[in-house]
Amino acid sequence: MKEDPATNPDSALREVVFSEETIRHRVRELGREISREYSKTDRLVIIGVLKGSFLFMADLVRAIDTPHEVDFLMASSYGDATVSSGDVTLLYDPKTNLEGRAVLLVEDIVDTGATLSELIPRMEERGPSRVDVVTLLHKRLTDGMLEPRWVGFDAPKSFLVGYGLDHAEDFRHLPYIASL
Ligand code: IMP
Ligand code: MG
Repeated sequence: MKEDPATNPDSALREVVFSEETIRHRVRELGREISREYSKTDRLVIIGVLKGSFLFMADLVRAIDTPHEVDFLMASSYGDATVSSGDVTLLYDPKTNLEGRAVLLVEDIVDTGATLSELIPRMEERGPSRVDVVTLLHKRLTDGMLEPRWVGFDAPKSFLVGYGLDHAEDFRHLPYIASL
């Protein structure tokens, strides 16, 4: 059954920011843009950053018609965004050989940009031909941070949940994105 924020008992806590339909439409557009950017010879590898990207990743790859492989990575979470470079631990490191291949990292949300500034060099160490980023949401909290190649939506600064995003592991399953 479809989640209806108007009838869901704990919906008093949240307000829909991006509806299921708005997300579906934008993900299809991103898929078309990404498909145009890569060709078969790029040997594209699409890497989802767990866990938050899992729904976006699933919908996005179905909207991309360039042949590609799929893998994931999981980085240790840290509360402090000022953590120095090299401190991030990969709890799951993609097993796919990235040498000479185009890598596309799939993120749910970029907040300070700290996660990406740790992950991109980690991928670059493995000799890909290029590393690009697509993020569904972007909060633009830090000036001068790396700009992802594709951004789904500019997001409000409020804390968002749903469509993969969690608050203490809750709400990931919601088909829409809401603010708490
Ligand atoms: P950054 O390293 O500060 O850019 O934070 C990025 C990560 O923090 C995301 O991949 C999310 O896992 C988490 N995050 C940031 N903002 C939110 C939010 O509003 N809701 C849920 N998770 C968030
Ligand atoms: Mg994340």
